[in-house]
Amino acid sequence: MIRLATSTDLPALQEIEVAAGAPFRDIGMSAIADDPPPTIADLEKFLGPAHIWVATGDDDRPIAYALMEVVDAAAHIEQVSVHPDHARRGLGARLIDEIGNWANGHQLPALTLTTFADVPWNAPYYERLGFRRLADSDLTPGLVRIREREAQHGLDAWPRVTMRRPVAT
Ligand SMILES: CC(C)(COP(=O)(O)OP(=O)(O)OC[C@H]1O[C@@H](n2cnc3c(N)ncnc32)[C@H](O)[C@@H]1OP(=O)(O)O)[C@@H](O)C(=O)NCCC(=O)NCCS
Repeated sequence: MIRLATSTDLPALQEIEVAAGAPFRDIGMSAIADDPPPTIADLEKFLGPAHIWVATGDDDRPIAYALMEVVDAAAHIEQVSVHPDHARRGLGARLIDEIGNWANGHQLPALTLTTFADVPWNAPYYERLGFRRLADSDLTPGLVRIREREAQHGLDAWPRVTMRRPVAT
């Protein structure tokens, strides 16, 4: 099932993040695989009303999660990670749809995210889910700041894109 995260879920989210990052090693992006997961303090910042959703197994333990923050009046997906043991079963798409429902309920017109342009399970995946690439000239100030922060973190070593999906009403 999909539900909102609680503070007791956060260590499991770190484990998911490390496991979900491992496939980047196979495509020559070891720095991404080796990037430490968000700290508990980082994750706690997202624990406001409706900002972390988890997909759970039968034991209610998270097997996938999505982080969201509102950026320039859009629901910005900061991270989606699915444990590889549970990948390719639609959990990523369901978490994103859940954020879409939340955005709809909060009168936000779109979902946004930043991701790697050429990683098969990043931009091409999001395109299959209805996201479209934004031109740099279309980035709102908050998205520009996010891209700058990511560049400082070294993520621009590979092509990055910002994407947007209108909220279905
Ligand atoms: C991207 C991610 C969230 C997708 O979650 P998921 O639950 O596996 O995805 P879904 O079941 O909704 O969709 C499956 C589709 O994702 C894409 N996909 C998932 N894993 C893939 C892989 N290893 N290689 C290529 N495409 C992949 C494919 O399009 C796949 O469709 P297919 O199985 O018919 O080929 C998950 O792979 C993940 O956590 N990756 C690591 C973290 C990450 O890169 N997050 C996104 C960037 S912020």
